Amino acid sequence: MKKIGVVGAGTMGIGISQCLAQVGLEVILVDISDEILNRSKREIIKNIRYSALFNKGEQIESVDTVIERITFTTDYHLLSDIDFLVENVTEKYEIKKSVYELIDPICPKNCVFAINTSCISITKLASSTKRQDRVIGMHFMNPVQMKPVIEAIRGFHTSDETINVAKKFLATMGKQMILVNDLPGFVSNRLSHLLMNEAAFVIQDQVAQPQDVDNIFKECFNHAMGPLETADLIGLDTIVDSLDVLYESYQDSKYRVCPLLRKMVDAGHCGRKSGRGFYDY
Ligand SMILES: NC(=O)c1ccc[n+]([C@@H]2O[C@H](COP(=O)([O-])OP(=O)(O)OC[C@H]3O[C@@H](n4cnc5c(N)ncnc54)[C@H](O)[C@@H]3O)[C@@H](O)[C@H]2O)c1
Repeated sequence: MKKIGVVGAGTMGIGISQCLAQVGLEVILVDISDEILNRSKREIIKNIRYSALFNKGEQIESVDTVIERITFTTDYHLLSDIDFLVENVTEKYEIKKSVYELIDPICPKNCVFAINTSCISITKLASSTKRQDRVIGMHFMNPVQMKPVIEAIRGFHTSDETINVAKKFLATMGKQMILVNDLPGFVSNRLSHLLMNEAAFVIQDQVAQPQDVDNIFKECFNHAMGPLETADLIGLDTIVDSLDVLYESYQDSKYRVCPLLRKMVDAGHCGRKSGRGFYDY
């Protein structure tokens, strides 16, 4: 594998593109506007500088060398000769579906599509393509640069060969997968989104302040992060979209979105990426 397509230059697309470029792969990073792409380029440059600080003593390539491997573009046709694709667009079924309908005829027929989604069914999205056996779920963890394991999802038609190709792709990034079957939310988010949503209800009900909620998880349960700071890191808009998918998929009221969460998103307080969520950044 030499050339990787990454669609969506938000929180996840930024991290994935950086990791790929840092292991020497060529990246075609596609999003819908130059403004978004310019912001993602600035973010990647900042993150490469941080990674140089964290990896003191290691031979680190210059920022220019790494960033030159990434083509920032709004032109999907540059995906015509890629070897592997990771899609990270907004967590809304209709948006992702329209992307797959667009790129399926452009990308090489044997190219594997990895869907990075929090909750949406891999089988359902794969059906928007003519390569259902070559579609796999790849739920990367955030921040991508720091998480060595991903949750991979076998769709109804995903072939064993596709799983092997995906394993090799991840190995080039220094990552491994835990493979699960396909039902919305898979394992990680079917469980974790219930926790983050209920933590938002705790704030709405004025039971405690965000710091106290998070500290109980960190200091009493030894979690590395509390549920509200995790929600801010993921993006409250992505959490709301994901809970909507879970609610719609299971028709189960336990996944109804906390009204406070939705109100924060409506107000533009989406967590770290917008500078304000349960905390200020
Ligand atoms: N944020 C997380 O912690 C996290 C973790 C794992 C998986 N995910 C999943 O990864 C995906 C991306 O999440 P994110 O947090 O990066 O979201 P984000 O909102 O930060 O970024 C989404 C990007 O997709 C772009 N986009 C929208 N429509 C597009 C189109 N038609 N073509 C190209 N680009 C388009 C947007 O402009 C935006 O830049 C979602 O499905 C999400 O559920 C997120």
